[in-house]
Amino acid sequence: MILNKVTDLIGNTPILCLDVPGKHARLLLKVEKNNPGGSIKDRMARNMIVAALKSGRLSPGGVVVESSSGNTGIGLAIAAVEFGLRFIAVVDHHAAPDKIAVMQALGAEIRYVEGHYREDEVAVVERQRMAAALASEIPGAVFMNQSDNAANAGGYSEFVREVVSEIGGIDAYVGCVGTGGSMTGIARGLKVHNPQTKTIAVEPEGSIVFGQPGHPYYQSGTGTPAGDTVGLVLDYSCIDMGVQVSDSHAFETARYIARRTGLLVGGSTGGVIYKALEFIHSGVIRGNVVAAVADGGEKYLHTVFSENWLEERSLLDPRVWERLDGWLGQADAEEAPREVPRLHAVHAA
Ligand SMILES: Cc1ncc(COP(=O)(O)O)c(C=O)c1O
Repeated sequence: MILNKVTDLIGNTPILCLDVPGKHARLLLKVEKNNPGGSIKDRMARNMIVAALKSGRLSPGGVVVESSSGNTGIGLAIAAVEFGLRFIAVVDHHAAPDKIAVMQALGAEIRYVEGHYREDEVAVVERQRMAAALASEIPGAVFMNQSDNAANAGGYSEFVREVVSEIGGIDAYVGCVGTGGSMTGIARGLKVHNPQTKTIAVEPEGSIVFGQPGHPYYQSGTGTPAGDTVGLVLDYSCIDMGVQVSDSHAFETARYIARRTGLLVGGSTGGVIYKALEFIHSGVIRGNVVAAVADGGEKYLHTVFSENWLEERSLLDPRVWERLDGWLGQADAEEAPREVPRLHAVHAA
């Protein structure tokens, strides 16, 4: 296929299947890291810009301002190049440095929030305040405000179309929740096709989306930290279960998946895979269980994939590997022939 726009590379991502022996279930990983900006957020970033241009809120040659932990910013930076817009990303120290470098490489202007924050504290409230203030000061600028922007959730209709056409009947969807845009757009869409599809949203321990007490966490891009308010884009009514995952479970799972399958997934996806396998193992979900690989481990080589970084923060937990081996029928993983492929591609039904 010959394409002439980078945004044409968004979507039609492959699906990898991880069989779960003895549980009548398979975990179908929609590899969203294959989008051009390396994450699921490319879909909503393009959609928010197209919607703003269509409505006249944003004019050609205008300025887009957004608060982002990185992936939305990368998606917006790509779309901004293509639509001839100036893009200013307001970030904090919690964003992975490589994500910021990518935004800069794509021509985005980076503004850091001021103030002193712990390294595991997300300064999202200040980020949003600063982005809104910047947009009001710059003529022709629009604050995208992904947390309250309906075009965020609206950006996932193609994701739903793709999984339904590739997989057919979907029994469960397990996804991360940050702004809730992806969860809302995907869960709503899947329930239109099959109201019985079980939808499970995973937030980091310390995030306040499902009413638990807030405290700092290291998972990047996902969750809503204490002090922030849950975005208007999140529709709780399409979510059947909201659950939490610890940083160590999320990160150890990402490392495990890399070593056992060769697929590098980011920390938030590690958490989703852990919870999906836990619920499959306990019989809560079965059949075709879909999860999105929100982004790739390439963005976290110095954190999630650094043993020193994990050790310094007491995030290593070898019991997670034993549990995952047990759930995936790899109790004898040491003796298991390593060349046996346990991931395989899903072809159109
Ligand atoms: C890696 C990663 N995981 C999860 C999320 C959460 O997605 P959403 O904002 O759609 O809830 C994001 C959002 O930026 C992300 O970058």
